[in-house]
Amino acid sequence: AEPGPLAGKTLLLTAGPTREALDPVRYLSNHSSGKMGYALAEQAARLGADVTLVSGPVTLATPAGVTRIDVQSAQQMLEAVMARVEAHEIFIGCAAVADYRPVAAATDKIKKSQETLTIEMVRNPDILATVAGHSKRPFTVGFAAETRDVEHYALDKLARKKLDMIAANDVSKPGQGFNADSNALTLYWPGGSKDLGHSDKATQAEALLLTIAEKLTK
Ligand code: PMT
Repeated sequence: AEPGPLAGKTLLLTAGPTREALDPVRYLSNHSSGKMGYALAEQAARLGADVTLVSGPVTLATPAGVTRIDVQSAQQMLEAVMARVEAHEIFIGCAAVADYRPVAAATDKIKKSQETLTIEMVRNPDILATVAGHSKRPFTVGFAAETRDVEHYALDKLARKKLDMIAANDVSKPGQGFNADSNALTLYWPGGSKDLGHSDKATQAEALLLTIAEKLTK
């Protein structure tokens, strides 16, 4: 077989949701299934990359040839990523990381005593921005999950987090985004963009990875 367009490249990526503990039996999370990130891991391995997948809790099987590290919370995901970032040439942040976590997880199960319950939250670290700010940063690719003004917010995240590329998806539409089998990504990089149309997540993943490979060889 011919060497793939990512042959010899090292890729670190995140996928799935994070879980932020409220107490020993409860957590806050989101609807990410991991399908998009696992499709990226699978396609990248097929294209020749050496892939490490840092995964939140999902029910998917690990793609063949991929090294998988399981985490639960955003803080654990940050630690797992930063411990490995220097050893990788490409980073893709596809995980739906919780922006906030409860200030402290209760030691015991929260009891049903009050009529209302207020939970104080604190900002989580931004994994993608931390990777992009690293002195030996890899080629850094983010995702943007938006429900309106997709291009505006994607370009804002590309510039603010100093990314090499961002893959934006409108997660308000049925048949794409969270938990769907298909997606419709638009890629943005400084000075350009590419609309990937609507297709299954494997096809979207391959197109994103080939665009990254093109940029790396330039
Ligand atoms: O998992 P699936 O069901 O297949 O769904 C796929 C998906 C919709 C989750 C995926 O396509 C997607 O959009 N992933 C990013 C989800 C997200 O959290 O987007 P955001 O716009 O809130 O975050 C922007 C970027 O910052 C993302 O790359 C995210 O990984 C990163 N981030 C966000 C917060 C944080 N604390 N740390 C981060 O690294």
